[in-house]
Amino acid sequence: MGKVAVGAAVVCAATACAVAALVVKHRMKCAGRWARAVAILRELEEKCAAPAAKLKQVADAMMVEMHAGLASEGGSKLKMIISFVDNLPTGDEDGLFYALDLGGTNFRVLRIQLGGRQGRVAKQEFEEVSIPPHLMVGSSHELFDYIASELAKFVSSEGEGFQLPAGRQRELGFTFSFPVRQTSISSGTLIKWTKGFSIEDTVGQDVVGELTKALERQGVDMRVSALVNDTIGTLAGGRYYDKDVSVAVILGTGTNAAYVERANAIPKWHGLLPKSGEMVINMEWGNFRSSHLPTTEYDNALDSESLNPGEQIYEKLISGMYLGEIVRRVLLKMATEATLFGDKIPPKLEIPFILRYISSTSLKTRKLVVEVCDVVAKRGARLAAAGVAGVLKKLGRDVAPKDGSELQRTVVAMDGGLFEHYTIFSECLESTLKGLLGEEVSSAISIVHANDGSGLGAALLAASHSQYLGES
Ligand code: BGC
Repeated sequence: MGKVAVGAAVVCAATACAVAALVVKHRMKCAGRWARAVAILRELEEKCAAPAAKLKQVADAMMVEMHAGLASEGGSKLKMIISFVDNLPTGDEDGLFYALDLGGTNFRVLRIQLGGRQGRVAKQEFEEVSIPPHLMVGSSHELFDYIASELAKFVSSEGEGFQLPAGRQRELGFTFSFPVRQTSISSGTLIKWTKGFSIEDTVGQDVVGELTKALERQGVDMRVSALVNDTIGTLAGGRYYDKDVSVAVILGTGTNAAYVERANAIPKWHGLLPKSGEMVINMEWGNFRSSHLPTTEYDNALDSESLNPGEQIYEKLISGMYLGEIVRRVLLKMATEATLFGDKIPPKLEIPFILRYISSTSLKTRKLVVEVCDVVAKRGARLAAAGVAGVLKKLGRDVAPKDGSELQRTVVAMDGGLFEHYTIFSECLESTLKGLLGEEVSSAISIVHANDGSGLGAALLAASHSQYLGES
């Protein structure tokens, strides 16, 4: 071999070595970054862990807070609001009723012709309207005017199959899914907004008064006969079809639960004991908090940057409005510290409450993202199951009767987009609850999906509190 050839071979070999070294370095760097992303995931898993022992503590704490909230006003983070519903639907409800369901980014208007025990729901129609985001943070007047104008349009389309006896005023059940201090079945003042709504001048106002004034401005002659939370509506709607429904849970944009309490187990109730001996309680469990809740740096940051810092802590771990935002925060950390999505952080990832498709990712990366979602969703589902276990415990339905009598059947009516559409979430919730209660007790507990039960329930409660009750 000539000198030139030897020189060329040496240069080639050296180049090959340098390239190989670069490849190895690059691979090591990539492996290092990947390891960092995996480490972030593992740490998340560890912090979100909610083993059965912890869940039992959460359930116990929920029950303790329920007692405290029933004992005195302000006695607990759980408001345990008295709903003034002391009778749930029986099936005898009769007549034409409207419902307005406001509680998230959409509201629904509904009319329903009830035909008593025989006719049941003879006919119903509904419409869903989205709320322009600026109205969620604007003025009370604007929001209620918008709702009333949409309701006016809906009323004007009332057609065949709906009959209002001559000379009667239309009546409405108003589902308002925010914490309200109820002053009667048809009035209540807003305590605070949740779920991204923030309209200062509504706080402290009677929301039925606000709606009624707006209806008058729109020229709609309608009386609000019942003001209910969505959990109460769901409980009422569920009871219409199944007499064993005694708990309702909403898992949607926000989360909350309601249940039927013995009226004499409510020390803060100073009114007459209702004939039924029962009172439905709106727990407002979204505001529950406990040192047993597994929280992470992401939850803390989300809370302190939210519209309502320090409030709705349980809701912020569980509900649909927040799960995606927690995931976004984890992915942003992975993007920053482990360049999970390439050298540049995808700008979308930096926008709060926006979690959209990120293009050009590898299968491996996508699998990691799925794992993050699973960890966050399963923690939420397990915590929600612990909440349900706490309510059942308060009702004494978490154990078999000591006297050997048969277990009482208890039905939990659930609704909300998270429960309805996120199968991993609903399956995990149900299996966790089973695990917490054990085989025997679980056999007497059913979870049913009360599809859009809150609108129906509000209409039914408007019927049972109608001004024309007793008239034929
Ligand atoms: C509200 C509750 C409501 C729940 C579900 C929470 O943010 O405070 O009143 O029932 O969301 O819609």
